Amino acid sequence: MKLAIIGAAGTLGSSTVFCVGQKGLVDEIKLIDIKRNIVETHAMDLYQGLLDDTHTKFTLADYSDIADCDILVITASVPYNSNVKDRSVNLVKNYKIVQSICEEMKPYRKPGSFIITSTNPLEAMINAYYKLLGEERNKFIGFCANDTIRMKWAIEEITGISYSDIKAFCVGEHGHAIRLYDQATVSGEPLVLTDDQKAQVDKMNVEWFAHWQSLEGGRTTGWTSSTHIAKIVEAIVNDSKVIMPAAAVLDGEFGCREVAMDMICTIGANGIEEIIDPNFTSEQMEALAVTAEKLRAQEASIGL
Ligand SMILES: NC(=O)c1ccc[n+]([C@@H]2O[C@H](COP(=O)([O-])OP(=O)(O)OC[C@H]3O[C@@H](n4cnc5c(N)ncnc54)[C@H](O)[C@@H]3O)[C@@H](O)[C@H]2O)c1
Repeated sequence: MKLAIIGAAGTLGSSTVFCVGQKGLVDEIKLIDIKRNIVETHAMDLYQGLLDDTHTKFTLADYSDIADCDILVITASVPYNSNVKDRSVNLVKNYKIVQSICEEMKPYRKPGSFIITSTNPLEAMINAYYKLLGEERNKFIGFCANDTIRMKWAIEEITGISYSDIKAFCVGEHGHAIRLYDQATVSGEPLVLTDDQKAQVDKMNVEWFAHWQSLEGGRTTGWTSSTHIAKIVEAIVNDSKVIMPAAAVLDGEFGCREVAMDMICTIGANGIEEIIDPNFTSEQMEALAVTAEKLRAQEASIGL
């Protein structure tokens, strides 16, 4: 199996090449970016860096090389800007990038190949790929796990319960997530948090992002994101039916249509094989409807 990463010179693209490459999941990873010189140095560096660990080949590529790729990971984006307070500010500019990439890919893309993207605003971008390339919606996967990771991280910080024992999910919109406290469990038993603890989890998440931006480090969360994008690739390659959050194109699920939203998904060889109903409460259903309306308006503003 072969995979291409478009945006591979950037923070997330290059770290995803490393994480997927190190796991030895695919025969070849093809690196594409408009910054051809940088992406070539990554290909050269990764190839020698992982010779001991993997048979995976890392190659500098063009769109004409994607014809034999089963998975296309797209992290291409306008550059990171620490002044960005909301991920939707790059909607128009990143949609233009999505349109140009679709034009480039169309003559060569293997029918049925998976599209995984991280590009923000995430839900509009994965729906854009789906609408522009138009195929089975289960093959279009948006990466949104960071909200869930940060929810569980904050719960561990506050309660002392081990991260690995906590099962909890976020849904809705990346960066404005609906935290599903009512369905959260610890080692299979309900996780009961006080209102104060829930407020603390919410506050820690807001403050974490604000602190990150204030550091003006010039980079996004490359490591957190790439380790988990690699888990999506692994779930597809190994057909492991992993349950994880992903932005999915909805077609009537939970009353939502013509929109992509973050959901709890089973991921396997067919991509998003199931969108799981966690028994949403009526309050959560209302919050989902509000988010769907907001995202639909966002998508309509770019003509989707
Ligand atoms: N969903 C998430 O949880 C999550 C997490 C982190 C980052 N992100 C998003 O992922 C995206 C990438 O982040 P990053 O930190 O890697 O950004 P980056 O600026 O480091 O990298 C973007 C890369 O895209 C390339 N690029 C731009 N236009 C292109 C085109 N038309 N064709 C090919 N390549 C092109 C650039 O040259 C650059 O190398 C951003 O939109 C960011 O907001 C999302």
